Amino acid sequence: MTLVQDPLQDPVQQKQPLLNGHAVHVVPTDSNAAVDVDVNVKNTVTETTTEVKPEPEIQTKPRFEIEEHPIDQVRDIKVGVIGAGLAGVTAAVLLPAKLPGLDLRVYEKNPDVGGTWFENTYPGVRCDIPAHVYQSGFAPNTQWTEEFAQGHEIREYWQSVARKFDAYKYFRFRQKVQRAEWVAEETKWKLTIEDLNSGEVYEDRLDFLVSAIGHFNAWRLPDYPGIDTYQGVLFHSSNWNHDVDLHGKRIALIGNGASGLQVLPSIQPIAAHVDHYARNRTWVVEAFGPGGIRRLEPNYFSDEQKEAFKDPKTYLEYRKKVEAGFFSRFGVIFKNSPENNALREKWTNLMKERVKDKPELADQIIPDFPPNCRRPTPGPGYLEALTKPNVSYITTRIQRFTEKGIVTVDGVEREVDVVICATGANVDFAPPFPIVAHGVNLQEAWKPGGKYGFPYLYLGMAAPGFPNLAWVGGPYSSGYSGTVPNSFENQVTYIAKVIRKLRSQGIATLAPTFAATDDFVEYCDRFYPRTVWTGNDDSSKDSKNCSSWYNGGRPGGRVHGLFPGSAATANYIRRDPRWEDFEYTYTNPSGNRFAWFGNGWREREKQPEGEVDLTPHLKIESEIDLRTHCEGWWDV
Ligand SMILES: Cc1cc2nc3c(=O)[nH]c(=O)nc-3n(C[C@H](O)[C@H](O)[C@H](O)COP(=O)(O)OP(=O)(O)OC[C@H]3O[C@@H](n4cnc5c(N)ncnc54)[C@H](O)[C@@H]3O)c2cc1C
Ligand SMILES: NC(=O)c1ccc[n+]([C@@H]2O[C@H](COP(=O)([O-])OP(=O)(O)OC[C@H]3O[C@@H](n4cnc5c(N)ncnc54)[C@H](OP(=O)(O)O)[C@@H]3O)[C@@H](O)[C@H]2O)c1
Repeated sequence: MTLVQDPLQDPVQQKQPLLNGHAVHVVPTDSNAAVDVDVNVKNTVTETTTEVKPEPEIQTKPRFEIEEHPIDQVRDIKVGVIGAGLAGVTAAVLLPAKLPGLDLRVYEKNPDVGGTWFENTYPGVRCDIPAHVYQSGFAPNTQWTEEFAQGHEIREYWQSVARKFDAYKYFRFRQKVQRAEWVAEETKWKLTIEDLNSGEVYEDRLDFLVSAIGHFNAWRLPDYPGIDTYQGVLFHSSNWNHDVDLHGKRIALIGNGASGLQVLPSIQPIAAHVDHYARNRTWVVEAFGPGGIRRLEPNYFSDEQKEAFKDPKTYLEYRKKVEAGFFSRFGVIFKNSPENNALREKWTNLMKERVKDKPELADQIIPDFPPNCRRPTPGPGYLEALTKPNVSYITTRIQRFTEKGIVTVDGVEREVDVVICATGANVDFAPPFPIVAHGVNLQEAWKPGGKYGFPYLYLGMAAPGFPNLAWVGGPYSSGYSGTVPNSFENQVTYIAKVIRKLRSQGIATLAPTFAATDDFVEYCDRFYPRTVWTGNDDSSKDSKNCSSWYNGGRPGGRVHGLFPGSAATANYIRRDPRWEDFEYTYTNPSGNRFAWFGNGWREREKQPEGEVDLTPHLKIESEIDLRTHCEGWWDV
């Protein structure tokens, strides 16, 4: 084994403290056992250490020379974001504001922004949390039509946010990223991109890359034997076929996640018959919002309410009240907590009440795992639709497809005209295209059986061995409770701080250390077993059969869908990056970490007198907030 000078050069080998004056390395093994929640990532590192003989000291670094520039002349860097959903739009608005003059581009395979809300157009698609909390914190919309907005209104809102902040100039639509590779000798990310307009494939080089590709964008059809021979119409709910008239058709609907629950009540009234395949149970609950059972009918805001919201104070009060409900639900995720137990009773009764027209259904649908083990949903109209005579609720597993329909493992074949797969997305969260650095490909390394076997990520923000790369909305992205837009704003702000440091402090590369990432994973391994998300990891009563995108679709599997802490905790942790958890290389050939001081001047001190503000720190006394006094990057 050779001595690795720069830990970024070899992600497999971690630099460890000096032992007896000699550098030692530890060699991670394959972590196939990652399925077991109790597996501590430190177990992925063997105890064996190899002593490396010190090599003769060779002075290769050039002598340090003062760089002739003012300290605040930032390095020109090219930053790229992949994805223009909520995360990408948030990045396209906040990054330029927080990093003036940034050279930014956002690659998006679709022809417009919106992501989830651009692609999902199935009948019934809507937000299941109130629109007034599913909006950006910096562009609140007083005029939402409905409490639980429909998909198109959400898409239009995020497009309007992008327009309002002039972010469209950063978007490169119909550009699909095929591969991202770190070129160490250039200290650049090389992207391979397909122009979906022309079919041309080309490369771009970037100093910093942000992944904002979403959790549910890589939607997935099931791979049952014979599915290709099926002669009827088959499509995924995220890729709805609007050319098919479903009136009077025999339909199979596979999947009872949040999508399947929204689709069923929309198709049941028009279908001749619906076979609803639900291999596991799910909690169907009351409204996520001001209360009660969600009806299928829209909850329109009245003209009076919308007028009242135009008053900023009234509107803020309303928003704070509704949003507080989303920041106050953390207790419900802990195993056997009073809050979780209370929900179980409440939701059991609610579900029974909603299937009262067909009470025998209750035994089939009420989950045998705790509430919140998989994401619950209000499912307006879903349980009611299940009780209708033209719906069959089928829990027997699917075995195969035939030309005419679906055969379950009991040998029964059910013929259908249309199959709708509400089967969700790839839930291992491995990127759907290669992301490669130093010989490691995250697309493989994060998959079960891969080098790490799970998303090996530091605070859900960055990966060791993968310099100058960050995630918004990746694995461990958001804490339970809170809201997605608020979480994304905090993540983008974290990334802005990282990029600010990189471009202003003469840093060529930065990445979290393996040691810090291992500590985070160790924390996760101790935290998650307290929660109901781990399903049957302890084989305890009432913790069985819970598969979800939280645990990679594997009951008892390692959790990576949510941050190990509340939404407020995740924001607290990410407010100030822990720079001591990162390792760095510098742009100055000598490697001197203070080369960025330049020639000692500030840019403005070189400007003609009277033309620049030399005292941005001076403010009207009443505008001074002592908490932020002398803290801003913008007024120093
Ligand atoms: C049907 C549905 C309903 C939902 N409802 C709710 C809800 O009510 N409340 C809630 O909190 N959450 C909901 N979610 C979760 C929702 O996905 C998130 O709230 C949020 O929209 C995620 O935003 P994002 O930007 O991270 O990802 P996405 O919206 O998925 O955007 C990712 C973008 O990346 C682009 N992209 C991906 N790969 C590439 C590539 N290789 N090259 C170029 N571009 C690429 C995609 O085209 C897409 O535009 C829902 C999800 C679905 C599927
Ligand atoms: N606003 C909303 O109401 C709304 C709507 C849609 C989505 N969302 C969000 O998006 C997330 C994803 O929702 P989703 O419904 O698209 O996906 P999902 O929750 O992952 O559900 C996928 C469903 O498909 C089933 N499935 C997958 N593969 C299958 C197979 N081979 N055979 C049979 N069944 C199979 C799963 O069954 P198992 O559970 O047995 O694996 C599950 O019931 C939600 O959790 C939510 O966060 C929200």
